[in-house]
Amino acid sequence: MLMLLVFGVLLHEVPLSGQDEALLEADSVPSKLLYNYTSLRLPEEHIPFFLHSNRHIATICEKDPHCPYKKHIENLKYCWGYEKSCKPEFRFGYPVCSFVDRGWVDTLESAEDMFWKQADFGYARERLQEIENGCARASSLCKRTPDACFFFCFFLLYIRFKEDFLQGGEIGGHCKLDSSTLMSEGQRKSPLQSWFAELQSYTQLNFRPIEDAKCDIVIKKPTYFMKLDAGVNMYHHFCDFLNLYITQHVNNSFSTDVYIVMWDTSTYGYGDLFSDTWKAFSDYEVIHLKTYDSKRVCFKEAVFSLLPRMRYGLFYNTPLISGCQNTGLFRAFSQHVLHRLNITQEGPKDGKIRVTILARSTEYRKIINQNELVNALKTVSTFDVKIVDYKYRELGFLDQLRITHNTDIFIGMHGAGLTHLLFLPDWATVFELYNCEDERCYLDLARLRGVHYITWRRQSKVFPQDKGHHPTLGEHPKFTNYSFDVEEFMYLVLQAEDHVLQHPQWPFKKKHDEL
Ligand SMILES: *[C@@H]1O[C@H](CO)[C@@H](O)[C@H](O)[C@H]1NC(C)=O
Ligand SMILES: *[C@@H]1O[C@H](CO)[C@@H](O)[C@H](O)[C@H]1NC(C)=O
Ligand SMILES: *[C@@H]1O[C@H](CO)[C@@H](O)[C@H](O)[C@H]1NC(C)=O
Ligand SMILES: *[C@@H]1O[C@H](CO)[C@@H](O)[C@H](O)[C@H]1NC(C)=O
Repeated sequence: MLMLLVFGVLLHEVPLSGQDEALLEADSVPSKLLYNYTSLRLPEEHIPFFLHSNRHIATICEKDPHCPYKKHIENLKYCWGYEKSCKPEFRFGYPVCSFVDRGWVDTLESAEDMFWKQADFGYARERLQEIENGCARASSLCKRTPDACFFFCFFLLYIRFKEDFLQGGEIGGHCKLDSSTLMSEGQRKSPLQSWFAELQSYTQLNFRPIEDAKCDIVIKKPTYFMKLDAGVNMYHHFCDFLNLYITQHVNNSFSTDVYIVMWDTSTYGYGDLFSDTWKAFSDYEVIHLKTYDSKRVCFKEAVFSLLPRMRYGLFYNTPLISGCQNTGLFRAFSQHVLHRLNITQEGPKDGKIRVTILARSTEYRKIINQNELVNALKTVSTFDVKIVDYKYRELGFLDQLRITHNTDIFIGMHGAGLTHLLFLPDWATVFELYNCEDERCYLDLARLRGVHYITWRRQSKVFPQDKGHHPTLGEHPKFTNYSFDVEEFMYLVLQAEDHVLQHPQWPFKKKHDEL
């Protein structure tokens, strides 16, 4: 968390800023747009939560006869959960625990609270608290207003690619770095865990780089620095996007008029099969650090993003209390991305269940008797069956998302493609056909997202082609193909169907119950 601690920007509960006053002055010209509400680009459901910590916009809306969000002005008590002024009963979401994991806690209530802190907006709240603590210790030079602690307002980076990267004196700013916190991060040196390596050579400058004209390039646009996990793997790359989203919450700003700078000290390109997703976060192409080679670059407003593999971070290898599911954070992330990418829900149709089978075109984990399973599914008249192979060359990522989001039962073998479950509708069930003895990965992701999860249970009814061939480890259950008992398969899919039909958000639930 150091990065936010030292570079983070905290402007929560700041009353009217100069910008708002300027906007209010426009009041005297009634025909003029007081605020461009479409520029928010948030799902309607998120608006009251957003207005809660953006009271200046709420105030404008109240006075503005053309504000489309008037109905939400009454509901300003609703909050994401991390805001200081947030009462727990008005939070965006509540995890649900079905049993008490005695290894962690004693009561259901404390289990829910723990899960909320581990993986819901409680996680953002803990990060915010860290920043505030850091704020209190930081140099007064960085404070702009008593309420806003603005670190590293000026910040200079001297980038030379071919020599040792970032020696002393090559990264610095006008503000003091809280070195005690930096040192405590020292043990987390692995690149995707912390910003320690980048910041250890930070120097406090006795000049103001931008004002004193010491820069070759001045970047005025707010910038997120990110270090990215594998862009070819959906599971890993979505750790990047989710952490950027959490960072935006922590900074209370979802503007896309920002730069994303990929802090990659290699000179290689970055293979990104999911690059369409960036459009939900920035209006610009991702900038590779090497673009600034041999330049002194100054950033006016930089935020170092939370990283994809932080210890106790989200969601790679996160230790989670068992028995709990459904975080508001992951639901909000899913809604936010789908909304900004304009992926809409086009169903479901009454009396039909949309079943999607994710086929694999890789060497391993193929469903050997896929045709047999599909034919069995097709005997059920209520099933609308689709077989998809999410190969990016043949089906763009946005089209993949459109299919996933319009699926009620999503079936696939263990593999990163199951990360699509993040974008299923709330009532959907994901069926990890076989988890290949990696039991937690997608079960946990489904719990975080709050969709129902099932997997193959009876070992005697799944048939591996052989013992598997890991390139270095020898026999391995993830490195072979499988066939499945058809009857058992249908039994499990019908259970999934039941779950969908009984889900409180299934649009036809009432009709179904009346029948
Ligand atoms: C409002 O914002 C939207 C989206 O950012 C933009 O396309 C549009 O031009 C803006 N409208 C005005 C009147 O500035
Ligand atoms: C962080 O929030 C501040 C205050 O709202 C904003 O000025 C700044 O642009 C934001 N930074 C980024 C990178 O979005
Ligand atoms: C969003 O998608 C719908 C169809 O799914 C389309 O009709 C609409 O024009 C799209 N809107 C934008 C802004 O692209
Ligand atoms: C699994 O199936 C693929 C594609 O048919 C094949 O190339 C591969 O050799 C199979 N793996 C094993 C372990 O038989």
